[in-house]
This record gives sequence, structure tokens and C-alpha cells, in this order.
Amino acid sequence: MPTLVSHPDEVKVLSRRFGQGAANIDKYLELDGYKAVQQAIAEGPAWIIDTMKASGLRGRGGAGFPTGLKWSFVPKNDKAKYVLVNGDESEPGTCKDHVIFREDPHAVIEGTMIAGLAIGSKLGFIYLRGEYRYLLKIVEKAVAEAYERGFLGKNIFGTGVDFDIITQTGAGAYEVGEESALMESLEGKRGVPRIKPPFPAVVGLYGGPTVINNAETIASAPHILLMGGPAYAALGSERNGGTRLFGISGHVERPGVYELPMGYNLKKAIYEVAGGVKGGKKLKAVVPGGSSCPVLLPDELDVGLDFDQMGKAGTMLGSGGIVVLDETVSIVEFALRVISFYQHESCGWCIPCREGTDWIKKTLTRVYEGGGQKKDVANVQYLAENMMGRTFCPLGDAAAMPTLGFVKKFRQEFEDYIDGKKAGTPIITEQLHVGAH
Ligand SMILES: Cc1cc2nc3c(=O)[nH]c(=O)nc-3n(C[C@H](O)[C@H](O)[C@H](O)COP(=O)(O)O)c2cc1C
Ligand code: SF4
Repeated sequence: MPTLVSHPDEVKVLSRRFGQGAANIDKYLELDGYKAVQQAIAEGPAWIIDTMKASGLRGRGGAGFPTGLKWSFVPKNDKAKYVLVNGDESEPGTCKDHVIFREDPHAVIEGTMIAGLAIGSKLGFIYLRGEYRYLLKIVEKAVAEAYERGFLGKNIFGTGVDFDIITQTGAGAYEVGEESALMESLEGKRGVPRIKPPFPAVVGLYGGPTVINNAETIASAPHILLMGGPAYAALGSERNGGTRLFGISGHVERPGVYELPMGYNLKKAIYEVAGGVKGGKKLKAVVPGGSSCPVLLPDELDVGLDFDQMGKAGTMLGSGGIVVLDETVSIVEFALRVISFYQHESCGWCIPCREGTDWIKKTLTRVYEGGGQKKDVANVQYLAENMMGRTFCPLGDAAAMPTLGFVKKFRQEFEDYIDGKKAGTPIITEQLHVGAH
């Protein structure tokens, strides 16, 4: 089992069972497992939703939508309703959901049941990223244990309530992390997004009202019910309740997944929690929330890690994947790697994304390979600007935003590179042609 990292500034709510063998149901029960769902059954849907609203929890998948509000949108009708757990975790730099599945899978199961009770659903799906097949065994074992104990299936806990969970893996496509594409994939179709509205809360999986949440969001629910909404909210910052898991990777001394309060200072997260830049090198840039988030410069890091403060800083909190780049990194190369990922993962459904990612990649490849022309930087910027807001799903923006960040903040480096003053270590070009993920 990989070693878990730890730091005194961590506030362990979601991660409090990590490293304690809680994938086993007896251990989970010993550590307050399945208490929250029983309370939820006793108190009823309105209480669950009120508690979730009071917690200030905002979706941990990237967009930060308030979870209690999302659950409250599901119509109260007789249609079959569904809960979907988004465990696709494919955004480069994001590495926190897999730790939850590995260390505390019952928290995901219990959270799914709580979401189901809140919206009147009897069936939940846990959808795991294709590359996470190794986790499927752990999750399936936990689901089987819950069935054996009578916590899942008919008449759970002897309360007359029924709830089932089905697990499913993807086939390695980033796009199926987008909620409507995930539903298409789950229904056995090609993983392309659906037009919205209608939104999943009204017309989702198999046409039924559906709540879809990130795995971390779902796993937070049992903790919130146990500690109470206001107590959870108080751990975080204004309008950003609680704690979240941050994956800090790249050139830091102590990379890992840390649970920090919402609003925690980004600079402290890098220099204190993750031990600073590896080998005492100079910091060059930080991608703060997964590869789609615009890059920050070293003098822009004095900012709180929550959805609002990161927005004001011109970037995003995203999926909590902080990637630290030291002075040896060539931004030309890094920008090419990032766009190569999005070009490879574009589902091809709409033109601005399919063509835009391809042309940006082609142009940056030419620059990278030494044949760049002065106009290339402006062309890349023009292409990215024209993708923004013009694509069918947010993948187009996810590709354009970081590209714009790189060319705007590191324009001089691109121009120097084109002039022959290359920066950074060359990478193997074939890697870029097969996709960088
Ligand atoms: C291209 C793309 C990929 C996405 N990938 C993921 C993912 O891997 N995991 C995830 O939870 N959300 C992902 N999302 C966001 C989901 O569409 C959705 O907003 C999220 O699952 C909602 O859960 P939350 O409210 O708990 O954050 C992705 C969105 C887009 C546009
Ligand atoms: S933006 Fe368009 S082409 Fe790109 S992934 Fe979304 S639907 Fe597919």
C-alpha cells in the first residue's frame, strides 16, 4: 500500500479513516461507519437536504456547485431516480478520489445511500475511471460486505427502505467525466455529452431524475450528517464550507494528498505542507486545480484555496490538483503537453474544440520542434480565444483556458524559444503524438 502523507495543518474529516484499514466493514463500523445513513433514514429527506445546505459543501468535481441545492432540485415525483458517483478522475494533476476509494470505500457507499435517501432514489451507480480497474476489486468487496450485512438491498437496516448499488468502469476516456457523457457511457453508448437543459436533476440517466456528484463530494456526506452542517461549514471559509483533499504534485519535497480547510493559503500549501520546491530550486509556476486551470506565477500565490478566492485570482480551484513547476520546466513544452492531452481527449462532437485543440497542438508542436514563426504565439492565442464559450461542453474551455494562461503569462519565453533561445529539457516527441495522459 502506498504511504500516506500527513501534515499538522491538515484537518482530517474526510481522511480521518485513511490508513486504518477502513476498507474492511468491521473497521468502518468501529469508526462510526453507517451511523449517518441510519440517522438519515430516521430524520428524512428534508433534514438531509437542510443539513447539506447548511454545511456549505460545494461540489469537489471542479465546478463547485452547492451540493444541498443540487439535491433539492430533484423533482418529487414517482419517476425512478438515480444517484451517480463520478469516480472518473481523469483531469491531469488530480489524484484524490482514488485515495478515498482505496482507503475508505464504505464512505462512498454510505454517501451514495444518503444522496439516494435525500432525493427518493433506490439505485446508485459508482462509476470508476477505466484506468482505476485495480480499485474495482476494493469497491466491489465493500459493496458485497454491505449487502451481506443487510445495509444494501431490500429492507436496509430493517427499516423498510430499499437501496442498491451497481459499480461500473469507464474505458479510459476523459470526456466521460463530464456528467452527461458519463450517463451516455453508463447507458452503453458512446461517451459524448448531451445538450442541456434539461439538466440531469430533471432528465438524467435512463430519462429519470438523477443526482451526479464527484466521489469526494459524496464521501463527505456521512461526515457532514454526523458533525452537523454548521460545524462542517465553520471549518472552511466564507461560502466555501469544510475541508477538501488537495493533491500536491510536481516539483515539491513532499508530494501527496492532503486534507486542508477550504480557504487555506496556496503558498503555505506549497511551501509548508508540501515542503517547498524540490531540491531548493526556484519556483517557476503553479497549476492550481488540475490542468484546465490557468497557471499562476510565484508572486500570485498568496491566495486562499476556495472557489471564490481562486476565481478572483484569475484561475480556478477546479479539482484540487496543485501541480508545482520549478525553473527547469519549459513552458513551451508544458503547454504542448497540456494541449496534447485535450486534443487527444476531445470527443470530436463540435468543431471549435475538435479543430481548435488540433490546430493549437499543431502550432505548438511546430514551435517546440524548432520551426516556430513569430506569428505562432498570436495564432495560438487567437485560436484559444475563439474556442472559449463556443463549444458544446466545457472541455473546449478546459483546453483554451490554460493555453491562454501560458501564452499571456509566458509570452516572452515562447518568443525566445522561437528565436532559438530554447528553455528547458527536450522531451520525447512521440509521447506527445500518442497523447500525454
Ligand atoms: C470534460 C470534463 C471532465 C470532467 N471530469 C470529471 C471527473 O473526472 N470527475 C468529476 O467528479 N467531475 C468531472 N467533471 C465535472 C462533472 O461534469 C460534474 O460537474 C461533477 O461530477 C458534478 O459533481 P460535483 O457537484 O460533486 O462536483 C468533468 C467535467 C468536464 C466538462
Ligand atoms: S467541447 Fe465539443 S468536441 Fe470537445 S469534448 Fe465537448 S462536445 Fe466533444
